Amino acid sequence: MTKNIAVIEGDGIGPEIIAEAVKALKKIEKKYNHTFNLTYVEMGGCAIDKYKTALPDFTLEECKKADAVLLGSVGGPKWDDPTAKVRPEQGLLNLRAGLECFANIRPAKVYPPLAAASPLKESIIKDGFDIIVVRELTGGIYFGESGRDGDSAYDTERYSVSEIERIAKVAFELADKRNKLVHSIDKANVLESSRLWRETVQRLAKEYPHITVTNMLVDNAAMQLIRNPAQFDVVLTSNIFGDILSDEASQITGSIGMLASASKGEGSRGLYEPIHGSAPDIAGKGIANPIAAILSVAMMLDISFDLKEEANAIDNAVNSILADGYRTADIAAANEKTTGTEQIGTLICDRI
Ligand code: IPM
Ligand code: MG
Repeated sequence: MTKNIAVIEGDGIGPEIIAEAVKALKKIEKKYNHTFNLTYVEMGGCAIDKYKTALPDFTLEECKKADAVLLGSVGGPKWDDPTAKVRPEQGLLNLRAGLECFANIRPAKVYPPLAAASPLKESIIKDGFDIIVVRELTGGIYFGESGRDGDSAYDTERYSVSEIERIAKVAFELADKRNKLVHSIDKANVLESSRLWRETVQRLAKEYPHITVTNMLVDNAAMQLIRNPAQFDVVLTSNIFGDILSDEASQITGSIGMLASASKGEGSRGLYEPIHGSAPDIAGKGIANPIAAILSVAMMLDISFDLKEEANAIDNAVNSILADGYRTADIAAANEKTTGTEQIGTLICDRI
């Protein structure tokens, strides 16, 4: 199989973790006899420095031409001024919108060898935690009308039926392959956009009679995730609720450095990135955890290229090094020995 992949290293630890992800991709290429053509393009703070924009036109063009995009992380203190006209985050938002990636798929699960890293009590986490947050990614308050008016400011949450339907379908179809549970999150007791969300999800649910759909208010969901995380399977959310709840879910696993994500539109092309940020405090030290980036490659192989065996080979390699006790600093317990970014990447490649 021949595929074209656009690679965006980004800022902070981005280049270090992407180097390991690319190493894993090359290992798969060789072992399974595929050809992956990589094109490196810039986005984020590094693009602002060079081109004065977070997402140069040619970066978006290359990404549109590619079969998949692999992204590290963007941002850092250098570009953090909230009043600045150009910010690294704009690159990310414009890339998601430009590629029409409306569905953000964020799995969060506790890896048994890392269960002790969860901040939740063992009695709560013992029933396991393995969910997928399906977050709407190109609408809602992130993209609604916003502005300043005298001494006030406003942002608008707006969703259409078709936007809600297409993201809900993604959640139902994923749930169908898992435990057949969807929790649809809203704030229907207050927000009109949430009432439309709930109405639409309930109507669509009739087409999936074998799936149990629960409507849950977002404040309650934030509480239930901590109280009884095992009750969830697929969690369907708007853009902003998913932003918040996916960070909460990541902490339950105890190891944000492990979590990968996929963003998809209608076709097979997808954008794959770790859910963690650019961690500028540890950038360049060779200690960042490359596993989320490597698992993002596994998601790419599975979701965009339908290469299940190859994706499994990466998952298994990751599980195997964890079972043998290899840890980067972020997932190591106080008494555990730590292994650097590059070595973790090499260990995983050796076991693919
Ligand atoms: C995320 C991030 C982004 C978001 C930021 C960096 C714009 O928090 O991917 O969750 O809010 O979507
Ligand atoms: Mg976020």
